[in-house]
Amino acid sequence: MPSSLETLLQRKKVLILLGAGGVGKTSCSVAVALRAAALGKKVALLSIDPAKRLASALGIELGGTLRTVEVADLPKNGRLDAAMLDAKSVFDSMVQRYAPDQATQARILSNPLYRVASTQLVGCLEFMALAKLQEIQDLGEYDLVLVDTPPDTQALQFLQSPNILANFMEKRVMQWLVTPFYFASKLGLGRLANWGEKMMGNLAKVTGFHALRALVDFLVLIQAVMDGFHTRSLQILKTLRGPDAGFLLVTSPHPPALRAAENLIHHLHQARYTLDGIILNRCFPFSLREPLLSLESPWSPMVGYMRARVQEEKKAQEKLQKNLPDTFQPFFLEVEEQSQVLVSVEALQRLSQQLG
Ligand SMILES: Nc1ncnc2c1ncn2[C@@H]1O[C@H](COP(=O)(O)OP(=O)(O)OP(=O)(O)O)[C@@H](O)[C@H]1O
Ligand SMILES: [Mg+2]
Repeated sequence: MPSSLETLLQRKKVLILLGAGGVGKTSCSVAVALRAAALGKKVALLSIDPAKRLASALGIELGGTLRTVEVADLPKNGRLDAAMLDAKSVFDSMVQRYAPDQATQARILSNPLYRVASTQLVGCLEFMALAKLQEIQDLGEYDLVLVDTPPDTQALQFLQSPNILANFMEKRVMQWLVTPFYFASKLGLGRLANWGEKMMGNLAKVTGFHALRALVDFLVLIQAVMDGFHTRSLQILKTLRGPDAGFLLVTSPHPPALRAAENLIHHLHQARYTLDGIILNRCFPFSLREPLLSLESPWSPMVGYMRARVQEEKKAQEKLQKNLPDTFQPFFLEVEEQSQVLVSVEALQRLSQQLG
């Protein structure tokens, strides 16, 4: 198992950053990506940051297209391309990729229900990341693909995305709706319309046949896209369990975040993934630690509070380490609480230097 971030960045092709909400996953994913680029790697960073902090910090637009980030002082081959995924752009590129032909693709993209569904599926952001990850992996242009996970990634839903997909398509009601129409559609669209009318009867009258027809069309057409995607996503899941993929957990050294981290570690272990490193973000300034810990007695309540915080962080890290499953031997990296807001590439580069 790689024992440092540098080894990890040299060896892996895919890195996933996990962590509870707000601990600094997105910021750390940029810092790690910058570190890899500084090692001369061609890096693709897929971020999911609905707050759009990263996009403005990196000067890129929201969307599924990878854009090169302007970074000073990179070695010859080092490069960082980043994309801020939004549901619609990823869904569109999935349709473009997996639709069986141009006509189907055009019909899906112009379907009114598709337009609504593709912007509303925010609950499937992790699924989006997986879809984009596959696309980039297939291109084979990058040395490393880094994936930042969305806020509130419920346990490890992200890593079970094909299941999310299965649920999405296989929920009984969906099947009930899709199957008859699917067969009807094979008989031609005229029959499909008749069938729809018969099947839905009054419902069609209430909702309007056009809306119903659009729904049916959408469900039938999207099924082909989902089938294609499903096959590939199983391969990606295999990659994530294989030697080319690594996992980094980001947490702050404070009790609630650490409890969430322990929970994630537990799930990661149960789901037979590995854990390569833990980033403890927003630690107390390093230069103040020793002086505070060596104080016999604090001379003011504020100093007492700061010393207690340093002690708490130390204990928390020890506890996290002690409770790790036997098979996990991650390296630990500490990142200080920054005094400046992380809103520029330069500020994120300073964060990145702490990972060295
Ligand atoms: N080491 C740090 N020092 C100071 N501020 C930090 C540090 N790390 C992160 N932050 C700040 O904390 C906030 C949350 O960070 P970030 O968006 O990276 O977290 P996240 O885990 O991705 O959040 P979410 O779960 O919402 O996606 C941001 O305002 C960021 O600038
Ligand atoms: Mg984030």
